Amino acid sequence: MPQSTAITVRTASAAYDVLVGRGLVRQVAVQVHLRGVRPAAAAVVCDSAVEPAARVVAQEFEAQGARACVLPVRASEAGKSLEALGDLCDRMLAAGIDRAGTVVAVGGGVVGDLAGFAAATYMRGIPCVQVPTTLLAMVDAAVGGKTAVNVVRADGSLAKNALGSFAQPRLVACDPDLLATLPARELRSGLAECVKHAVIADPAQLGWITERADPILAHDPDTLGELVVRNVRIKASIVGADEREDGVRAVLNLGHTFGHAIEALAHGQLTHGEAVAVGTVAACRLGASVAGCAGAVEDAVRTTLARVGLPVRLPVALPLGALMDAMASDKKRRAGEARLVVPHALGDVRVHAGVPPERVREAWAAVGAA
Ligand code: GLY
Repeated sequence: MPQSTAITVRTASAAYDVLVGRGLVRQVAVQVHLRGVRPAAAAVVCDSAVEPAARVVAQEFEAQGARACVLPVRASEAGKSLEALGDLCDRMLAAGIDRAGTVVAVGGGVVGDLAGFAAATYMRGIPCVQVPTTLLAMVDAAVGGKTAVNVVRADGSLAKNALGSFAQPRLVACDPDLLATLPARELRSGLAECVKHAVIADPAQLGWITERADPILAHDPDTLGELVVRNVRIKASIVGADEREDGVRAVLNLGHTFGHAIEALAHGQLTHGEAVAVGTVAACRLGASVAGCAGAVEDAVRTTLARVGLPVRLPVALPLGALMDAMASDKKRRAGEARLVVPHALGDVRVHAGVPPERVREAWAAVGAA
């Protein structure tokens, strides 16, 4: 059996391992069995781009005596819909999956969210195993039990993650070999979340990533494995303290309120990670003006982001007024009041309410909004 590192996530509702190790994709079924889950059938839900890996996972469940089916889904934000959920459940019913079955999600964040929510609700809930295949999903989305689909509002706009649940998986298996074919832009998208984690809880990680930028960008599996372990530890500790985002888990939104506004206006021209990268720089500038955060923090964040090829300014022209409006509507939908995650120092990030709009405008201007 290949060597792997286990990080245990302990939340109020569950405890489970996140395994990180090369070759784990061939060990998922065995590791599930070792944890006392012995499904009669495995519904392996996957992004079609990683169907070969999903077939390997399915074969291993069959080798353990389970029935297995591979169910590809459309891995786009638009595909994370109620229709896709209904279609997936129809296919699980047709495949004879019942309460003795387990869902195994093989893919990025969209597949994990959709399959996780299907598992949480199918026949009132069956176990779910996450096998993330993107860096972003390994270090963030697959850990912590957030599952959801988007809902289209009556006016045609998208209410992101409007229907979902906190449902912790039984196991998360991260195989860095699966990242070998991840497009460079997607790899960098995950790196933005690692930089975010560094600012929140692991300042030394900024230098760690900067020094290892070459092997990281060359998809070196050992370096990526170390990176995943480091970031899963941070995520595990935060979701362990606050499973349902009643408190500290909100710090994981660092850079995201800015980032969501960018995504809303850039219409697919930036990846989520690119938007979060620019948003994290803006948040650092906000920290300098409202919390006395040293300018060196923004400098260090910019250095690391630039070293791995992430933007530190808006790469497309977006009007400041429209960004402010998008931010206000995102915040209104989220919490009913303006709350922003603000760095006070590296490793000290806090949620602020009532940040003066002129300070937010200055932060936008610092990343090139005009
Ligand atoms: N991705 C943020 C969270 O899991 O809370």
